[in-house]
Amino acid sequence: MRKIKRSPASSTAESPEQPLDRRQVLGAGLAFGAGGLLASLGLSRPAAAQEGVPVSGARAGAPQTGGPPPLPPEPKFAQSPPLKDLRGKVAYITAASDGIGLGIARAASLAGMKVCIGYRNPERLQAALPLFKAGNAGVLPIRHDVTDPDGWTQMLEQVKRQYGKLHLVVNNAGIKTLREASKASYEEWDNAVAVNCSAIFHSVQVCLPHMLAHGEGGHFVTTASMGGLLPGVNAGIYTSTKIAAVGIMEALRVELEETSVGTSVFCPGGVNTDNYVGTGEENPYRAAQLKAHPLPPEIARRFKNRGRPVSMDPLEAGWRVLNGVVNNDLFILSHPEFKPGMQERFDAIMASTPPVEADAPIPKRRVAFEQGVSRCGIYPREIEHRKAPRKSYTSV
Ligand SMILES: NC(=O)c1ccc[n+]([C@@H]2O[C@H](COP(=O)([O-])OP(=O)(O)OC[C@H]3O[C@@H](n4cnc5c(N)ncnc54)[C@H](OP(=O)(O)O)[C@@H]3O)[C@@H](O)[C@H]2O)c1
Repeated sequence: MRKIKRSPASSTAESPEQPLDRRQVLGAGLAFGAGGLLASLGLSRPAAAQEGVPVSGARAGAPQTGGPPPLPPEPKFAQSPPLKDLRGKVAYITAASDGIGLGIARAASLAGMKVCIGYRNPERLQAALPLFKAGNAGVLPIRHDVTDPDGWTQMLEQVKRQYGKLHLVVNNAGIKTLREASKASYEEWDNAVAVNCSAIFHSVQVCLPHMLAHGEGGHFVTTASMGGLLPGVNAGIYTSTKIAAVGIMEALRVELEETSVGTSVFCPGGVNTDNYVGTGEENPYRAAQLKAHPLPPEIARRFKNRGRPVSMDPLEAGWRVLNGVVNNDLFILSHPEFKPGMQERFDAIMASTPPVEADAPIPKRRVAFEQGVSRCGIYPREIEHRKAPRKSYTSV
């Protein structure tokens, strides 16, 4: 197990050389100082007094139980990036014969990685392969349905036979059905859950033990969506499964941050792929499809005289993902125009959180019980991490 680095100032309870016990982090709230406790939990002064935290001006008769507890040993730094240099490392990207997956695969290949391309449609694959520059470090197509757990095992065996080790897994395959949750069929729901959520679980079940065993550093990325952070649109199946995808990756960060395996979730807005068919056919598969199946006139009209496509190029999405990997960013966001919407959503959540009533303080034992969830620590560490200078995957 790797250690989480701490600042000397934050190591009050033990030496910085000692490995961190996760229970100390999760249970840290049990020992929060009075100020931190009040601020972090929004406890009112009367409520704190009721709980026995000594606060000047506490209500008469409230129990007082000694001085403030010592500050907990909060780790200050986020997990350092397990994959700092991508050259010569091996990546597997699901659904990489087109769209965002192809953009990630091309960026990975340009970075000198050996790239394993998950695909289902051989036509898409044939159109994609010439886009990899001659002299690349290696490209290995693997036919793979991500909903099949055995398929994950076979994929890993194939990668090991060809390249020995696997370092980076990108869960990119996605069901983009924009169906209302109230109108979707069971089949649509099950399929979206299988591809957008369960496949991530399969990837971890199969690939994590291998990454931990080879010890050269590993990383999981999932392509979720802005819909996973800002779900207020009429696409219930998509948004609920993408929220789940974000949740899985955050949970994995909590679980794996003391290991040599990093975790990121990519949440793009619009990228110039099937979602935006007709806006830029860099991939010849799409050009051929468009020729064979012209757009309906009402859609074609929307794109007429638009000039260059307005949504993000898949290759740009790819390099943003790889920059996220070499920095071990928990959240890889690419579309700042969604910031006000995300802010509104979280403001609404905060506005819905009840204030602590003076006559109904939060029971102390409940607060202690909930600390592991209410302060898991990955978010303050990510904020600190974001203040550090950024690295580019092309320059590390
Ligand atoms: N494009 C955007 O604007 C946008 C925005 C936010 C998030 N995303 C996400 O980005 C990811 C890639 O989407 P994209 O836009 O690049 O469109 P895309 O090219 O249509 O990608 C979807 C891919 O998922 C594959 N797939 C579906 N079910 C699969 C399964 N069971 N096993 C293996 N592969 C499967 C599809 O393969 P087939 O060709 O065989 O069907 C297709 O290649 C998705 O997760 C999507 O939700 C896209």
